[in-house]
Amino acid sequence: MFNASKLAIQLDRDGEEPIYRQLIRHIRAQVESGVLQAGTRLPASRDLAQQLNISRISVVNAYAELRAEGFLSAHAGRGTFIAGDNHGNGNGHGHTYTSPSSNTNIDLPSAPDRSIRDMMRMARKPGVISFANGAPPNDFFPITHVKDAINTVLERDGAQALAYEMPEGYQPLRLAIRDYVSGLGIRCHPEQVLVTGGTQQALDLVVQALLSEGDLMVTENPTYLGMIDIARTRRVQVHGIDVDQDGIRLDLLENFVLETRPKLIYVMPTFHNPTGAVMPLHRRRQLINLAAEHRIPILEDGVYHELRFEGDSLPPLKALDENGIVIHASAFTKMMLPGMRIGYVVSDNTHYERLLRVKQAADISSPSLNQRTMHLLLERGVMSQQLMWNNRELKRRRDVALVAAHKYLPPGTRWNRPQGGLYLWAQFPTNGPTATEVYITAIQMGAAYAIGNVFYTDNSGNYRIRLNYAVHKPFDIEEGFKRIGRAWRDVACEYDEIEKLPLL
Ligand SMILES: Cc1ncc(COP(=O)(O)O)c(C=O)c1O
Repeated sequence: MFNASKLAIQLDRDGEEPIYRQLIRHIRAQVESGVLQAGTRLPASRDLAQQLNISRISVVNAYAELRAEGFLSAHAGRGTFIAGDNHGNGNGHGHTYTSPSSNTNIDLPSAPDRSIRDMMRMARKPGVISFANGAPPNDFFPITHVKDAINTVLERDGAQALAYEMPEGYQPLRLAIRDYVSGLGIRCHPEQVLVTGGTQQALDLVVQALLSEGDLMVTENPTYLGMIDIARTRRVQVHGIDVDQDGIRLDLLENFVLETRPKLIYVMPTFHNPTGAVMPLHRRRQLINLAAEHRIPILEDGVYHELRFEGDSLPPLKALDENGIVIHASAFTKMMLPGMRIGYVVSDNTHYERLLRVKQAADISSPSLNQRTMHLLLERGVMSQQLMWNNRELKRRRDVALVAAHKYLPPGTRWNRPQGGLYLWAQFPTNGPTATEVYITAIQMGAAYAIGNVFYTDNSGNYRIRLNYAVHKPFDIEEGFKRIGRAWRDVACEYDEIEKLPLL
C-alpha cells in the first residue's frame, strides 16, 4: 500500500473559492492525472489540516464529498484511500438515500461561523430527513378551523379585517390574551398587552426599546440563535452565562452582574432552546430577586411554556414577579400556527409606551386579519383543544426519538430526556469527530441536525447537536437517527482513538 503522507497542494487563501472546494479540485485532479493511484492512503484529516495550515473541518468536508463522488473510500480504523475506480462515477459508496415520507469597538456576539450557517442550509435538500429547524410540525396545523375562522372574520368584519390595526393590537385579542395568560398565572391588564409579530418581534422590540448600541445583555449560554442574531443586528453586546441542568447558573450571573451591570437578562425558563432545561421554582424566585435587587429587567421567553407533555407545570417568571421587573414575551406560534405571526409582550407601564413606539416604527401593526382570526380561534377553544392533541403527539414522538437515540446514535453520546418542547439536545463523544465534521456526511447520507456551536455566545459546544424530533413521524425519526449514527461512524474512522465500530 502506498502512503501519501503529504499532498502537494497550492491553496489560494485570498480567492473566492472556499478552501474545501479547492482541496476537492486538487485531489480530484491528482487522481485523474494518475499522481494519486488507487489504494493510496491519504493523510489523516488532522495531519493534512496541519500540513496545509487550514481548518480540519475543510479537510473532513472535502474528504466527505470526494467519498460521496466515489473518488475516495474510507475503512474504519484504517483511514481514507483513493478508491479502486478513479473516475468518480458519482455513486459514492453505493448508498442512495431517500426520505420514506418525503468596524467598531463594540464586542458583538461572535457570529456563528458563516460556513456553518451555509452548511446548515443544506438541510433543506430534498430527501434529507432534517431535524435542524425550530418549527412545530406542519401536520399539527388545524387547517379546517383556520379556514372557517378566516371566512367568518371576513364575513363579519369586511374591510375592517384588511385595514391597518391599532399598533397595540386588535382590542378583543388583547383581552383574550389577558385572559389566556391569566390561565398561566400572569395577572395583567389588557393595556399591558402588546400584540407582536411572533415572539421574535417581541424580543427584538424589547431589545430596541431598552438597550442602546453597545449596551450589554446577559443570556444563557447556550441560548436561542434568534436572540444572538437580534443582538448582532441591533449592535448590542451579549455575554452568555453557563447553564446547568436547572438553567442559568445564578452564582455566575450574580458575579457578572456585580462586575458589569448589564442592561437586560434574557432567559427561557421553561423548555429552554436548545437544552430543554426547566428552571425549578426556587431558582425562578432567586433569579427574580437578584434582578430586582440590581434593578435589571428580565426578558422572559415563554414560547415553549405550554408544550409540556410530562411533569408538573411551573409558573412563568412573570407570574412570580411582584416588582414589575419581568417582561414576558411569547406567542401562539409553536403551539399552533407559526406562519400567522401572532405573539405578544406583557410588560409593566414603565416600558410599555416605549415598546409601543418601537412597534409602530417597525411595522405599524400586526396584520388585522391574522389577529382577528387568532382571536376567534382562541374564543372557539380551538387553541386549547389543539394544544392537548399536540402535546400527546409530541410525547409519542419524543419517546420514539429516545429509543432511536439509544439504538443508533454513536456509543458514548449523551442526550436529555425532555418533558416538553421540540428538541433533543445531544453530545457526541468528545474523543471523536465534532458535530460540524460529521455534518456534510450526514447530509450526504440523508439526515440533518442543528450544529450545537451556533447556539453558544462563545462558539463552544463543538460536539453538541440539536434534534427537532417533533417535525417527523416515527418512521422518519428512526431512519433519520440511523443515518446520523452511520454518518458519525463513517467520519469517526479517521480517528485513531475510536475503536473499530460495527457499521449500522
Ligand atoms: C426560544 C425561542 N424564542 C422565540 C422564537 C421565535 O418564535 P416565533 O415564531 O414566535 O417568532 C423561537 C423559534 O424558534 C425560539 O426557539
